[in-house]
Amino acid sequence: MNHYKIITAEQFRKNAFELIGKDWMLITAGNEEKANTMTASWGGLGVMYGKNVAFVVIRPQRYTKEFIDRESTFSLCFFDKDYRKTLNYLGTVSGRTENKIEKSGLTLAYYNGTPYFDEANYALICKKLFKQPLNLEGLLDERLVKTWYPNGDIHTLYIAEITEILRIRHNPVL
Ligand SMILES: Cc1cc2nc3c(=O)[nH]c(=O)nc-3n(C[C@H](O)[C@H](O)[C@H](O)COP(=O)(O)O)c2cc1C
Repeated sequence: MNHYKIITAEQFRKNAFELIGKDWMLITAGNEEKANTMTASWGGLGVMYGKNVAFVVIRPQRYTKEFIDRESTFSLCFFDKDYRKTLNYLGTVSGRTENKIEKSGLTLAYYNGTPYFDEANYALICKKLFKQPLNLEGLLDERLVKTWYPNGDIHTLYIAEITEILRIRHNPVL
C-alpha cells in the first residue's frame, strides 16, 4: 500500500495541456463493491463558482458513465509514461466486456469511498457540480460536428469540484 500526501492546488505544479492531452488520465468512479475506469485525453482544470474544478466529457456509450452518473464523486488519476500501454488498454476495451481493472494489474484504492489507483502519481478527488449533454447547436464550427459526431454520440460535460489532490508516494523508504 502506498502513502499519499494531500497537497494544495498551488503545490500541484503541472501543465494541464501535457497532463491531460499528451499523457492522458484515468477517470474512475464506483464504490467498494464495483468500480470502472476509462482513459481520457479531453478535459481541463480551472476555476468556477469560486472553486477549483475539473471538466471532463464522456460519450453516452461509455460504461464508466453509468458509474459517474450513479455516484456523487469520481477521480482523475495521472501516471508515469511507463503506464502508457495500460492506459491505452483501458481506453480501448470496455468494462462491460472484460474485467479490465483486474487485467490491467492496477490496484484500486479508496479515498473516503472514491476509487482511485495506487500506482498513479496524482489522484484528483472530484465532486460533481454540473452535468449536461453538449448542445451541438452551440458548436460554432460545423466541421467539428462532422469530425467528432458523425454518429450523434454527443459527449456529456461534467464540471466537478476538486476537493482533494493526492500526491501518491511509491516505495516509501522503509
Ligand atoms: C487516449 C484516449 C483518450 C480518450 N478520451 C476519451 C474522452 O475524453 N471521453 C470519452 O468519452 N472517451 C474517451 N476515450 C475512449 C474511452 O476511454 C474508451 O471508449 C473506453 O474503452 C471506455 O471504457 P468503458 O466502456 O469501460 O467506460 C479515450 C480513449 C483513449 C485511448
